[in-house]
Amino acid sequence: MIATAQSAYASPGLSFSVHDCRHLCSNPAVNSKKGTWDKVFSNAALHWILRDPDTRMDVLRDVHAALKPGGSFVFEQGGAGNVAEVHTALIGALVAHGVPLTEAQEASPWFFPSEAWMRTALNDVGFEVEKLEIEYRPTRLTESDGQGSGGLEGWVWLMGAAFLERVSPEKRDVVVKWVVGVLESVEKRHEDGSWWIGYVRLRGVARKRE
Ligand code: BEZ
Repeated sequence: MIATAQSAYASPGLSFSVHDCRHLCSNPAVNSKKGTWDKVFSNAALHWILRDPDTRMDVLRDVHAALKPGGSFVFEQGGAGNVAEVHTALIGALVAHGVPLTEAQEASPWFFPSEAWMRTALNDVGFEVEKLEIEYRPTRLTESDGQGSGGLEGWVWLMGAAFLERVSPEKRDVVVKWVVGVLESVEKRHEDGSWWIGYVRLRGVARKRE
């Protein structure tokens, strides 16, 4: 992705690099420019990055520290209740295949905050929240190719990988099929057989106070 960005969008003064956002300002390249960034933008990534409670607030604190006064943090991520039905089915599938409930819950790689949680957290690290909204946005899945790509099956293999790692490789296909089977009467529409997932998006704009 970085190589593609560098060749497709090459421009003087523009560079692309990979950093661990849980420790953004511990990186010397970032730390030396702390307090000078105009903008931080994140799309569909924070629900993974904020998963670990031990580093959750550090992420927001470091974004705030990287920005210049007046700089803005613009983001969209999964919000409270995101993909609730698949999330529940994944936990249920692990339990049905011998994983203890607390371990199955712990396997979740996501943190889907509510608007209230995010507003408090942004305020606590020093942001002024300009806009924050949550939207229920059911999303149509692509067609399944019947071989593990596309459809709900493909989604579960890709996005649910952290859950599947809790069972042995031989059991994973059965677990995926269990999830798809359980969700058929919930996510498949009667009128045309299309499959939909209940995405909930949390999006916001926060500004570092001058
Ligand atoms: C995503 O990263 O786009 C995503 C992850 C979990 C649920 C929904 C979307």
